[in-house]
Amino acid sequence: MAPHEIVCWECGRTVKDMYADTCPSCGGLLMIKMDLEPLMEMRPEDLHGTPIGVWRYAPFMPVETANIVSIREGGTPLYPCSVLGAEIGVNDLFVKYDGANPTGSFKDRGMTVGVSHASEIGAKIVGCASTGNTSASLAAYAAKAGMRCVVFLPSGKVAAGKLAQAIFFGAKVISVDGNFDEALAVARELSEERALYLLNSINPYRPEGQKTVLFEIMDQLAYDVPDRIILPVGNAGNISAVHKALIELKEIGWIDKVPMLTGIQAEGAMPIVRAFNSKLADFVPEEHPETVATAIRIGNPISGRKALRAIYETGGHSVSVTDEEILAAQKILGRREGIGVEPASAASVAGARKLREMGIIDRDERVVCICTGNALKDPDTIISSSEPPVKCSKDLSSIKSILDL
Ligand code: F0G
Repeated sequence: MAPHEIVCWECGRTVKDMYADTCPSCGGLLMIKMDLEPLMEMRPEDLHGTPIGVWRYAPFMPVETANIVSIREGGTPLYPCSVLGAEIGVNDLFVKYDGANPTGSFKDRGMTVGVSHASEIGAKIVGCASTGNTSASLAAYAAKAGMRCVVFLPSGKVAAGKLAQAIFFGAKVISVDGNFDEALAVARELSEERALYLLNSINPYRPEGQKTVLFEIMDQLAYDVPDRIILPVGNAGNISAVHKALIELKEIGWIDKVPMLTGIQAEGAMPIVRAFNSKLADFVPEEHPETVATAIRIGNPISGRKALRAIYETGGHSVSVTDEEILAAQKILGRREGIGVEPASAASVAGARKLREMGIIDRDERVVCICTGNALKDPDTIISSSEPPVKCSKDLSSIKSILDL
């Protein structure tokens, strides 16, 4: 474990309280400040003795290795996608498929670190609000760690696969009569009363694990830094974590340029895009977010300010895509590349296509789209947006006539 401290992202003060979610002085977001000194002497290859995955990068993690709670997260494929690339007009396109994580989403990267830390400080009950994936992931890691788990979900707006996972792994599932932002407010109140240890991405330990998607991309591209990384933005934890990873790699001298971080939101839930369009450092929350991509149906992203800084500091961009564009991108990924993603993940590819059409992305850029969640998370959306199965008798000749044989 690298030595570290918790500091306020806004005012820079050091925070000693391990349970704090926000700065006791100014109310700002917290972050982990790693002591990267031990890494200064190292090269990326020095970590290659450990298989690719979150814990290859243990020296960047604020947790003792003896306390790790793991179900082998990370180590997901980076697919070169020439057919998809040709379709959208980008010559050098990759998809980082984080749907291949143990519970089917990128959340496992942060959760292994968050729950390891919870175990380190002796937490007995862990909890989160979630649009689905965080709850599925937390439920699995809490089960592995032998902790009680409670999850707060926006009623009726969580995809079937995710809900099934949270129940299956034994979490207490509370269906809140409200949207994600309201469910998070409830969870935060309970956390302030110390009734549970909160593992939403406002917890500064969780994003540390999410940095590893960037470390893996760099390893998989042999440290040939891509021009742009595109990812969907909901609560804005992931883009902020990727930005932090870039800052750390630059600090230790493993990279000397950074990719343009590009955040995609759904048209019905786009507070970050609006702020970006007006060149603002802060955003105005949206009260009634709505999109088919329920994972990113969020109007008041907790890490929204961090996300905006990530985009501005890397010279990136932010754009919204419609539900139709999201579903079309999901289908192309499946039918041209054999990659099954949930709608929120397809937003990154829909965004790539749109930004290429707008001329923001150049044909010769090397672009990596992060696809955050597995298609099986949300089977209902796939079924309702696809052709239904063909009903047929057992009679061979009628089957042949259906198949035009
Ligand atoms: N993609 C998927 C599949 C997600 O589940 C989420 C967020 C995001 C993208 C956006 O990531 O919030 O870090 O900007 N899901 C959270 C959840 C909110 O509760 O599962 P973000």
